[in-house]
Amino acid sequence: MLGYRSMFIEFDPSVSIDRILREITLENDAFGASFEPQVRPADERFGDFQANGILPFAKKAGLNPRDLAQKLIGLLPHSDFWETSIAGPGFINFKLSPLFFKKWIEKFKNAESFRNAAEVKKPQKIVVDFSSPNTAKQMHVGHIRSTIIGESLARLFSFIGHEVIRDNHLGDWGTQFGILLFAIKKENISLEDLGTDPITKLENLYRMGNGWVKDDENKLVQAREELVKLQNGNPENLALWQKIKDISMDSFLGIYKMLGVQFDYSLGESFYKNKVEPVYEKLLHHQICVENAGALVVFHPEHKRFSKQPFIIRKSDGASNYASTDLATVEYRRKEWQSEQIIYVTDGRQRDHFEQLFMTVQKWFSKEKNICPILKHVWFGTILGEDNKAIKTRDGEPIKLIDLLNESIERAKALVVEKNPDLENSEVSRRAKIIGLGAIRYADLSQDRTLDYVFSWEKLLAMQGNTGPYLQYAVARIHSIFRKVGLKPNEIRISDYPPTSDSEKKLARKLLFFSGAIKQTIKELKPHFLGTYLYELTTEFSSFYSQNKVVVEENEIKFLRLILCARTLCVLEIGLDILGIETLQEM
Ligand code: ARG
Repeated sequence: MLGYRSMFIEFDPSVSIDRILREITLENDAFGASFEPQVRPADERFGDFQANGILPFAKKAGLNPRDLAQKLIGLLPHSDFWETSIAGPGFINFKLSPLFFKKWIEKFKNAESFRNAAEVKKPQKIVVDFSSPNTAKQMHVGHIRSTIIGESLARLFSFIGHEVIRDNHLGDWGTQFGILLFAIKKENISLEDLGTDPITKLENLYRMGNGWVKDDENKLVQAREELVKLQNGNPENLALWQKIKDISMDSFLGIYKMLGVQFDYSLGESFYKNKVEPVYEKLLHHQICVENAGALVVFHPEHKRFSKQPFIIRKSDGASNYASTDLATVEYRRKEWQSEQIIYVTDGRQRDHFEQLFMTVQKWFSKEKNICPILKHVWFGTILGEDNKAIKTRDGEPIKLIDLLNESIERAKALVVEKNPDLENSEVSRRAKIIGLGAIRYADLSQDRTLDYVFSWEKLLAMQGNTGPYLQYAVARIHSIFRKVGLKPNEIRISDYPPTSDSEKKLARKLLFFSGAIKQTIKELKPHFLGTYLYELTTEFSSFYSQNKVVVEENEIKFLRLILCARTLCVLEIGLDILGIETLQEM
């Protein structure tokens, strides 16, 4: 009758339980097609998964939920893979058997099989718009979150089979250029020889220029004139602007290379400067925007705040702005790339901008009967210093991102040398880079992105606790186990035994929840769900390892424990790679 046995071993066990429950209820008079099993992870004390669907279903049908739960359990054929029980008013608990764990471990044996299992049925074309610094300035600590979170989401989308386009929406057409061009000309600076750190020079020039225009109306007018000249395509200003952009890009690329981030496009705001006119026309035509004291603005009458707070899409002097380019950008990404989803990763202060942008785009696309991509704003909080204020240098300046990354590598070097005093210099540097950058990344990705977090060197580089080095160390430790037995992790055969001892079962159980962690991360676009899962897996592994000798006399026990090590390693390596964190075989 039911083909349930062969299909039961799924990457996500809750999917199989759901399917079986649907199968047996579909043709049963008491249930039928409208019954939703609602299978969720269960509290460990009661089981591994629970079906919560009985309660709402019974309520609707006016039936006693416990009786109904009893009936459903009666319908389930005997299985070697689980035990069931009823809890509370009508929840059904499923406790998976050691045999199930054994089969699951057998089936999901390497990165390839995990990847295949995690693949979505309908892959989408997803644009991830992230990092997106402004040119003429260097990247500061504030830019790290967008870069790290965006890259991790991009990796996760590809892992589950989506087609990802990484687009760096550079702020390369802003008002900063008026002041900068003015300063360059006034100081008679040649952009060809700015020395070894050209981006810092530019930034200092900008700061100087900013000081001048603040105190001097005349200079402010001159700076504005430079901007207008640039916007009108004056060749001299355009050439300078291009050079500034190249210098900025060079400095960004150094950081991206360190972080293993590669963009498919870096179109930036300037790319859209000639694409905004038609957008104004269309939005005017559809009566989505109105003229207001020379500016073009959008109100959303159905929205509490945005019925009064305008979304300015063209400034009163006729110039385009951040909003105009973002409107043109959505249109371009849909038309040229057929993107089905666009994810924007920026700090939380831009929430209004994106909410207004999305509402405007939805109205516009619906008027034209175009399919609107799914638009999501993935926003994050601020990195705080130990004084609980936005992190700064001692002189109150923003911290340069490159300095922060280098400091982390330097500090990691001390850790590596302490552990291996005789290691060759080049190997010390290689390991320090992986540990230092991993620590910074993990410190960010292990926090709920919507919260501010306090940056602390001691915490993020600690070898114990929820840190990058702790996870990397677990990976290295598992590798060392395999070095000792002289086998490769993927050479370990399946043992005759299923996981039996408490800590073996606990570790196996944790492995099964990998897919759940991925699912939740995708659902909320919050990488810390994956980070937390990896941390919990690591602690589960640590207790397994301290309670069980792996290399024992009895071969079947040895292979059971080795296979648990191998699968833990596999999940840790996949998970950390999704977070963008490199691992080491020795630490
Ligand atoms: N350049 C902007 C900033 O530094 C971020 C751009 C985000 N992307 C977008 N399409 N608006 O805040």
